[in-house]
This record gives sequence, C-alpha cells and structure tokens, in this order.
Amino acid sequence: MPNPIDTFSDPVLGATWGELGAVRRAARLDERWHIDAVVGYPVDGLQEMYTRALSEALNDAVVLDLAFAPPPSRNATAAGHLIAVASGKGGVGKSTTAVNLALGLDRAGARTGILDADIYGPSQGMMLGVADGRRPEVRDQRLFVPIRAHGIEAMSMSMLTDEKTPMVWRGPMASGALRQLLEQTDWGGLDYLVVDMPPGTGDIQLTLSQQAAVSGVVIVTTPQDIALLDARKGIEMFQKVDIPILGIVENMSWFECGCGEVHHLFGEGGGARVAAEYGVELLGAFPLDPGIRESTDAGSPTVVADPTGRVAGLYVDCARRVAGALWQQSAIAATPPSITMDDK
Ligand SMILES: Nc1ncnc2c1ncn2[C@@H]1O[C@H](COP(=O)(O)OP(=O)(O)O)[C@@H](O)[C@H]1O
Ligand SMILES: [Mg+2]
Ligand SMILES: [Zn+2]
Repeated sequence: MPNPIDTFSDPVLGATWGELGAVRRAARLDERWHIDAVVGYPVDGLQEMYTRALSEALNDAVVLDLAFAPPPSRNATAAGHLIAVASGKGGVGKSTTAVNLALGLDRAGARTGILDADIYGPSQGMMLGVADGRRPEVRDQRLFVPIRAHGIEAMSMSMLTDEKTPMVWRGPMASGALRQLLEQTDWGGLDYLVVDMPPGTGDIQLTLSQQAAVSGVVIVTTPQDIALLDARKGIEMFQKVDIPILGIVENMSWFECGCGEVHHLFGEGGGARVAAEYGVELLGAFPLDPGIRESTDAGSPTVVADPTGRVAGLYVDCARRVAGALWQQSAIAATPPSITMDDK
C-alpha cells in the first residue's frame, strides 16, 4: 500500500518526505500515527508546527518524534558542512547576511561556526563583538581554538594579525592563510561552518572551492542591476568548479519609510529573476533597515540583538532554508533509505 507519510510535503522545503528520505519509521497504533522522522535541517521550535501539519495531511492523530541530522558531509572534518556566502560585488551585505545566517542556524539547533575568509577586509570580529586584540588560544602548539561569540565558533584573520598586516599580502599568501585558518582550527565538531567570502571571483574563492570541499554556496545580491550582474558572475564561477549553488539571498530589497510606504530603492524582483534564470532557490529577502546595520556595528547582530523581532525571524527561516537546500540537493543525489512500515 502507498505510504501516506511519504507524500507529506515538507512545510519548509515543499519537497515530499519520501523524496527527502525523512521518515525512519511510521506505524499506526492505538488509533494514531507514531512517526519517527529525521530532518536534514535544524528544527528546534518546529515540533508543534510539524505535528499539526502531519495531522492535517493524514487527517488523523499524530505522535511525532522529530530529530535533526545534517546530510553526510563531503568534508569529513570537525568543521562539518562548509557553506560559503559569496557575492560578486562588495558592500551588498554579505558579511551581515553570513553572520545572521550562522546565528540563525545556531538558534534553529545546529552546531555552527563562522570563518571570515575576507582576508583583506575582515569584519566578523567586529560584527560579533570580539574585542580588538583578542587572540585565539593555541592547543597542542598547533591548533587554534576558535573564539566563541553569541553561541557560535568564530575565526577571522582579524583575530590573528593587526589590521594592516594582511593588506600587503599577495594572492597566494592570502590563500595560504585562509587554508591555515580553516585547517588549523579545532572546530570541535560542527554541523555547519559558514564561510564569509571576500567579494569577487579571485584567488581566495578558487582556493577554497578547489581545496576545501565546500558543500554549497549562497549568493547574496541587492536588487540593483549592477549587483545582479556580479551575482551572475559569482554563480557561474562556482558552477565552473562544481560547487552546488544553494540559492540566492536578496538584501536591501525594500525600505519601510517614515511616510508609511514601502519603497523598492534598488528595483524589484531582481533576485527572483536571477534565481529563476539559473534554476536555483530564492532563499530569502531582507529589508534595508538601519537596525540591521546598527546591531552589527555594535557587535550584536539582529538575530541576537532583537531575537523576537521580525527581521530575526526572517534570518532564522532563511537559515533553515539554506540548510534545507543542502539537504534537498544531497537527498536527490543519494538513494533513499529503506522505510519500516507497519500498519496495524
Ligand atoms: N539589510 C541591511 N539594511 C541596512 N544596512 C545593511 C543591510 N545589510 C548590510 N548593511 C550595511 O551595509 C554595509 C555593508 O554590509 P557588509 O555586510 O559589510 O557587506 P559586504 O560584506 O558584502 O561587503 C554595512 O555597513 C552593513 O551594516
Ligand atoms: Mg564583507
Ligand atoms: Zn517614503
């Protein structure tokens, strides 16, 4: 008989649990469904929503055991899945998005770190409120211990050198420094390591893509034509080196003005158009909001500064969809697990 849970459409991703391989066990006992499901993106806080959605889909009472396990990683190290956050153009809000997505993944229940790969213009130390001059400890004379900030593990060039040093480095030195940051840090067993990439499509992007088994990349853009053009270049570069594109985040999409209207300062729908063009997801869109800048400037990004606010909610949802896109892509690549099904 057909398995009614396999056709359940995942509320966050749209794909069915059968396609995704989420159901481990499903049995109807004592007039209700007992379902064990393992979802490949962090689900803290979603138990009730899922139980209700399943109950509606099955038109029956549901007892749900819901757990999170990230898909198997290409990068079998303590850093977990590397998720690169990139853009063609600087100043589109890549670092702001990266840090809030990392904090969003943590909030949703994943062990998360952030690696600031912007060797020439690191910003994660400042954004996470790590005091200037604070240095990571060194373990066994060979491994850095990342600096824990707001619940995530962070490493940045700014934590190892003073501001000016990296500026004089040439490409190969910067790439070498980045590999060291990645490989000589004791990440301690993460589910996801968000990598805040420098702008452009240069040495650093290539090194990381070719040498570090990046699980997927998120492209940040504004709806402005010039940024969209650069976003396309970014997508094409990562496609060339076979890094899966998880999707696009559109930043500074609208502005809620004092006049009471919503203005689209940089145009409308650009992120969605580029996503459709390349057959990838639009993973989220964020307002131009002075509060977003003020909180990262103060070392406490929106997700932690205003955890119950609307923008924080958007970041957490977007973080789930990023992790979900990664799961979805690896589920398509893998054969589905076998399902035990007893209908008594
Ligand atoms: N959605 C937003 N609303 C308001 N300001 C933003 C937003 N996103 C980013 N900013 C601000 O824009 C500037 C550039 O952002 P940043 O994340 O450093 O960009 P990038 O890493 O792409 O160079 C920063 O001052 C940041 O605080
Ligand atoms: Mg940046
Ligand atoms: Zn106005």
